[in-house]
Amino acid sequence: MAENKNQFGSKLGLIAATVGSAVGLGNIWRFPAEAQANGGAAFLLLYILCVLVLGVPVMLAEMSLGRRTGLDAYGTFKKLAPGKKWFLLGCSGIATAYFIGSYYMVVTGWTLEYLFEAVTTQLYHGAEAIADVTGSGADSFFQARMDEYISTPVRPVIFTVIVIVANIIVLTGGVQKGIERLSNILMPMLFVVLVAMCCLTLSLPGAGAGLKWFFSPDFSKITSDTVINAMGQTFFSLSLGMGTLITYSAYYPKSTNLTQTSVIVSMMSTIVAVLVGMVIFPAVASFGLEHHSLVGTTLVFQTLPEVFMCLPCPTFWASLFFALLFAAALTSVVSIMEVAVAFLVSHFHFSRLKACVFTMTPLLLLSTLCSLSFSTLKDFKIFGMTIFGLLDSLTTNIMLPVTALGVCIFLGWFAPKHLMKEELTNNGTLRNRFAGIIIFLIKFAAPLLILTILLAPLFR
Ligand code: TRP
Repeated sequence: MAENKNQFGSKLGLIAATVGSAVGLGNIWRFPAEAQANGGAAFLLLYILCVLVLGVPVMLAEMSLGRRTGLDAYGTFKKLAPGKKWFLLGCSGIATAYFIGSYYMVVTGWTLEYLFEAVTTQLYHGAEAIADVTGSGADSFFQARMDEYISTPVRPVIFTVIVIVANIIVLTGGVQKGIERLSNILMPMLFVVLVAMCCLTLSLPGAGAGLKWFFSPDFSKITSDTVINAMGQTFFSLSLGMGTLITYSAYYPKSTNLTQTSVIVSMMSTIVAVLVGMVIFPAVASFGLEHHSLVGTTLVFQTLPEVFMCLPCPTFWASLFFALLFAAALTSVVSIMEVAVAFLVSHFHFSRLKACVFTMTPLLLLSTLCSLSFSTLKDFKIFGMTIFGLLDSLTTNIMLPVTALGVCIFLGWFAPKHLMKEELTNNGTLRNRFAGIIIFLIKFAAPLLILTILLAPLFR
């Protein structure tokens, strides 16, 4: 299988690359923010439910399509339904990827900025003055630090530009070798550091209260908004609903067991999210941060630097953590941009470099606008949201589910008749006890559920 350069080199590499796409800012930055805003445990429970009944089937749907055609998101629908309008689904996937990419670059830029500040020891400069970290001083210190970093216009934009350039470099070289290798090393490391940090925060005084909050659901907190957010988070954290997995699975060999792969990827992604919750919420409780009006978007960036202060040599831990966070973000954002790049390469026969430049130049403008949402354009609101906030909630809560809905309907009802069964069983060579239930979920349950969740707010 390794001789084909348009395929992942090994089974492990393929899983690492797909987990690399899934595990990213969505799990580490977005998940705790969403959980905090949506009632903690109730959100966690809904999220896990959504992963099981929506995430895994939609992931399998995307994988089946991509591996069958070996093409990008647009080409896949063109090939499977020639002369029909289904290619629009591919277009909407590519557009969604573009919008998500634009703000994902910005947050990846923050992680890089934090990494830079940590390595140069600036992050903790002045923090030594706070004697008792579990007292009241440290939280406002790091809150002020975060504010200082993102509310000046120029620096975050510079870091965003660096991230965009890094993307061009990686993508020009091809995803398989670079990303596959990178993910192979970094993903296990990220796991180890997270588990270590988890042990640390659980030993903080007062951590139990945070853990309890995170794990005991208050069902009265569940509203139709919570459900929409949990569904959006599921698609986001599993990289679904914009053709990323169609594009990646085009590089899967025919022998890959799709069901097994999708279960492993979903599990890893969920475990990372839960681990992050187990780090953040005990820390929030221990530092008494829950009384502060923490903004979701900055939660990770404020709480974790405080946690590191409990360790000898916080600078080292902060550098390590933000390096891994940056790596996780990079392997994800590359997979997001690959959707557009693969399309340009296969449809217009661009070289990879040309496709990257074509993709990234307009993105630069959009990303800059997102970045300035925290400074110069802070008061520029559309529907009460900043440009950044609007792009995030529009893409995650609406565009991802709508595209995923389309993918399920297409595969379940309009694609060549036995495609799904053939892909789930590798043309009958693989026994798959779950094929029946997966097909049922894709054909009936997932579309109905997504539609109900999307439409529910209209009937409130
Ligand atoms: N899943 C990634 C994360 O959790 C982000 C991501 C990559 C993504 N590809 C995607 C989100 C496709 C939605 C769709 O950070």
